[in-house]
Formats: sequence, C-alpha cells, structure tokens
Amino acid sequence: MSGEYEKYPMVTADQLKSRRERPRRVKMLTRDFIEDSLYNPSYGYFSKQVVIFTPGEPFKFNAMQDEQEFHQLLGRRYTEFEDKLDEKQPNDTRQLWHTPTELFRPYYGEAIARYLVVNYKLSQYPYHDLIIYEMGAGNGTLMLNILDYIRDTDPSVYDRTKFKIIEISSNLAKLQAQQLLRNADSKGHASKVEIINKSVFEWSQVVPEPCYFLAMEVFDNFAHDAIRYDPVTEEPLQGTVLIDSNGDFYDFYVPTIDPVASRYLRVRHAATAGRYPHPLSQSRILRKLRTSLPFSPNLSDPEYIPTRLMQFFDVLEKYFPAHRLVTSDFHVLPDTIKGINAPVVQTRYQRRTVPVSTPYVHQGYFDILFPTDFHVMELMYRAITGKLTNALSHEEFLRRWAYVEETETKNGENPLLSWYKNASVLTTV
Ligand SMILES: C[S@@+](CC[C@H](N)C(=O)[O-])C[C@H]1O[C@@H](n2cnc3c(N)ncnc32)[C@H](O)[C@@H]1O
Repeated sequence: MSGEYEKYPMVTADQLKSRRERPRRVKMLTRDFIEDSLYNPSYGYFSKQVVIFTPGEPFKFNAMQDEQEFHQLLGRRYTEFEDKLDEKQPNDTRQLWHTPTELFRPYYGEAIARYLVVNYKLSQYPYHDLIIYEMGAGNGTLMLNILDYIRDTDPSVYDRTKFKIIEISSNLAKLQAQQLLRNADSKGHASKVEIINKSVFEWSQVVPEPCYFLAMEVFDNFAHDAIRYDPVTEEPLQGTVLIDSNGDFYDFYVPTIDPVASRYLRVRHAATAGRYPHPLSQSRILRKLRTSLPFSPNLSDPEYIPTRLMQFFDVLEKYFPAHRLVTSDFHVLPDTIKGINAPVVQTRYQRRTVPVSTPYVHQGYFDILFPTDFHVMELMYRAITGKLTNALSHEEFLRRWAYVEETETKNGENPLLSWYKNASVLTTV
C-alpha cells in the first residue's frame, strides 16, 4: 500500500468532526484515529448508544452476608437494568459499563466530598468559595452525591459551593441536567450547577480562583500515539494508519515524529530522568543478535504514549492555574492488546464483551481504553504544572476518606475496598 500511502492526504480528528461518514482514502496519526473512533459526533463510540449502569436504589452492604452476595445481587440488577432498556428499545450493540461512582453510590461520592471539604477548610475557607469542576460526569451521580453530602453535613460550606461539569457527550450532558431536575432534593442543587457541554480540549477561559478539578475514569479514553523503535539504531517511529477505498486499515510507522508526540517523549525523559518502561529493554548487543535471526521483527513492540493526557495537563496549567486535581483511573487492565501501556479494545454484543487485538477497527463500534502509568504521569503532571501530588491505590484513598463500615458485609468483607484493585487515585497536595 506504499503507493497509496504517498498519495492519500493526512487528516486529523478535528478535521473529521463535521463528517457524518467514516473517512476513506486518507491516512491519520494513531491518536487522531483513536480520537475520531471514540469521539466523532456522528459515528464515534461516545456519540452512540453508551449507557452507564446505575443500580437504582443504593446497595445495602450491611445487610449482605458477603462479597459473593454482592456479586450475585449486582448481576441481577444489571440484568434487570438492561431488560428494562430492551423493553423500550431492544439493542444488541448497547455499550454498558459501570464505575465505582455508580456501584458504591452514595458512599464513594461521599468519600470524595469529605476529601474536598476537609482540604477546602484547611486551605481556602473562608477566603474563597468551594469551586468544583468535574470533567466527564457520566450520569451525574458523583455531582449529586457530593452536593447532597455537603448540604447535609456542612451548610455553611454548601452556601459557598459551585459545581461545574465539563462534558463532551451531548447525550450525557442532557442526562446530567435531567438528573438535577429529577426530584425536589436534587432540584435544590440546580442553582449551584453549570453543565458545559464541550470537550476539555476546547476550554479557552482562565479560571484564576482556587478550584478542585475532578476526573474519574476519563483518562482511560484519552487518545494515545503509538511508537515503535528500530532495535539497532533505537530511532523512534510514529504509528499512522491508512484507510483505503474499501474502509480497510493498514498501519505504517514513519520516522518523522509529529511535534506533540515529540514533546511527550522529551518531557517524559526529563521528568523521569530517563526511567520509564520502554519496549527496547534488552541490551543493544542482544538486540543486534536477535535482528540477525531470520524472521525477526524489524521494529520493537509498540508503546502507547498518552499524548492527549499531556495536553490535558497543559489545559490545567494554562487555564486552571490554582486547581487541585482529584483523579482516579486504572493503573492496569486485563486483556490488553500487545505492547507497552497498550489498550483494551472491545465491544459489547448481545450482552457479551468481545475483545479484539488491534485499535484499527471499524470506528465507533469499539471502546478503546488505556491503563494509566501513575508513576510516569505523576512526574509529568508535576513537571508541567509545577504542583506536588500524592498517588494512592483506590483502597488506600478510600480507607482514609470513606466511612468504611457503611460498605462492610456481615462477614467483615468490604467490596468498596476490595473491588477496583486495579485503580489508583492521584491528588494535588
Ligand atoms: C467512563 S465515563 C466516567 C463517568 C463518571 N466520571 C463516572 O465515574 O461514573 C467517562 C466520561 O468522560 C466523558 N469525557 C470523555 N472525554 C472527555 C473530554 N475530552 N472532555 C470532557 N468529557 C469527556 C465521557 O463522555 C463520560 O462522561
């Protein structure tokens, strides 16, 4: 396909935003392909039938015998939830996920609220209002749980609280607005909340006052670039994908690294003093020997670099100079495709998860989610924003901030702590 590669124009996700059809006869950087697949307003994954599970009534953990019972109950509620949706409109390709915010509502949100109120009182009260931004608010559950908690426990702080959501998906932004009007309790919060329906990457207004910036399970869908290395020269090559006239995909690695990926590689190197996982971990001599064997690959495995996450840190640094970040995401994921920091690429069909082995698949049908290397990201965040941070496991964070007795089962197990072992929480200190 090299002839086509030369001929076809290079396009970006931004240029494809207004298109209603998937592009053909073009080439793109891997990060633009991923961004277009996930976020294109017409055919992207997030613009389609994505639904975040909500358990309805909160689970009563204290009444359960053990974690096993929670598992069974959750399975039952999941099925009921989907049966109800199918009654309204059957859908074999509905994409349904769950998050700790939803499974452990309101306890998870209350733990975050406690963290916010304590830190606000320590460092900003009474000189500043409590301003909370939440990027990617899903069903709006965390917002409601946080506001309910502050109203019930600390009316003087509640009086001074403002909550702003930055949400890329118009469907979810609408749902969040509906949640606010659902009952008298939530209606009471309406004057405190603003829902801004745009991507965080379109943000263009400086927020000079101190604020908290929440991002729960949003980094995992930020687009990444793919890099492979020449095993002999160690030269990096950047991943691009060609889409031919039939809509088939061909990946190409090119020696010119675009300015964004190139900056990522430089900042990472400086921020980590050169210590980070790398696909070329063997010694140079071993690698040379290996490449002389027949059928040996002429490039290393890919590594996926979170260029969009770096750009998110740039947004924080530029527009939210006095922010304090509170973010949670997966530090490791099962069933990833091959490579370092590689994503899971999967879809749901007839209520079953179907994983595939490459990100270059029919745009909009597949979730592409990446683990976050918290060690490297913490150093990059510090380097870009000049702020200090603390990274804890999901369990450690919740042991500090949740009332853990509320989620304990009768036999002493605690799903709030024992689930999401693969998630971490990063906060600005
Ligand atoms: C996996 S959901 C998590 C939802 C919620 N935070 C929770 O934990 O239940 C990811 C959310 O981030 C939003 N999102 C993804 N990329 C975004 C971006 N660039 N700007 C704003 N919101 C974004 C999605 O639309 C969705 O609401």
